[in-house]
Amino acid sequence: MRRILITGALGQIGSELVPALCVRYGAENVVATDVRMPTQALACAFEHLDCTHIREIQEIVRRFDVGQVYHLASLLSAVAEHKPQAAWDLNMGSLYRVLETARQNDCAVFSPSSIGAFGPSTPKDKTPQDTIQRPTTIYGVTKVAGELLADYYALRFGVDARGLRLPGLISHTAPPGGGTTDYAMDMFYQAIRYKQYTCFLQPDTRLDMMYMPDAIRAIIEVMAADPNGLKHRNSFNLTAMSFTPEELAAEITKHVPGFVIDYEVDPVRQAIADSWPRSLDDGAAREEWGWAEQYDLSAMTKDMLDNLRSKLKPIR
Ligand code: SER
Repeated sequence: MRRILITGALGQIGSELVPALCVRYGAENVVATDVRMPTQALACAFEHLDCTHIREIQEIVRRFDVGQVYHLASLLSAVAEHKPQAAWDLNMGSLYRVLETARQNDCAVFSPSSIGAFGPSTPKDKTPQDTIQRPTTIYGVTKVAGELLADYYALRFGVDARGLRLPGLISHTAPPGGGTTDYAMDMFYQAIRYKQYTCFLQPDTRLDMMYMPDAIRAIIEVMAADPNGLKHRNSFNLTAMSFTPEELAAEITKHVPGFVIDYEVDPVRQAIADSWPRSLDDGAAREEWGWAEQYDLSAMTKDMLDNLRSKLKPIR
């Protein structure tokens, strides 16, 4: 088979997607790349890649005979809002170069979009698949533009480009990546360590979320889906649960008695969260390629805490 290339392989999604792709397709068929160098050995080949440089992408794609690219290199919402110019350069510049390399070398491309592709004028509850997308963050601007560019490459050049609008992702292995939804991950870590968490979002801020094993499975499944069944490509709404900080805290308290949450709201991240939907309608993903989550809030919370307890020691 032609090989699978992952960009941003050491990031929040990549560090879990790479091992999953190695298991599914064989480590000899997977090439991980990142602009950083790994601190420990990976199961598959690793190449340094700055994917704002098209020649570097082309060289690796040709040398390894790549047929599928999972393009994950990107700045997340909160970091992007602090460095909007860098976010445009990386998020859009690299996607354009990956799609162009895919056109030249007949590769399929996965690129993640996000709940951040929506904005304040989008219907907030049960947000439809096809609806108003006028985001007010630079992250969202790059996600909408990215969705359109990927659809353009599919329509105009026949590039098999597919994507998902991912919700906040929660993982016990991948490090948080500078996202607005990362409060949820932090809450688990601090609950185990300190039985206390200071949240940067207001208690009633409702956002879509997903446990990382579901997200990794969704990414692999959408790329393996029969293309004849796909009406949408870039990008499918996707969700598994939607909750507020106070609801997550209540669920954690069932397993960590005495856990206390307080709030010190960060206006930048609160404004980002307030511009996003409260819950997506992911019916198109369910109908077109059979999406179904395995983890709801209570199953995820239990699994997160079981895993973190074996890794982290309580400090207080
Ligand atoms: N988790 C992302 C963020 O908060 C949303 O796509 O930036």
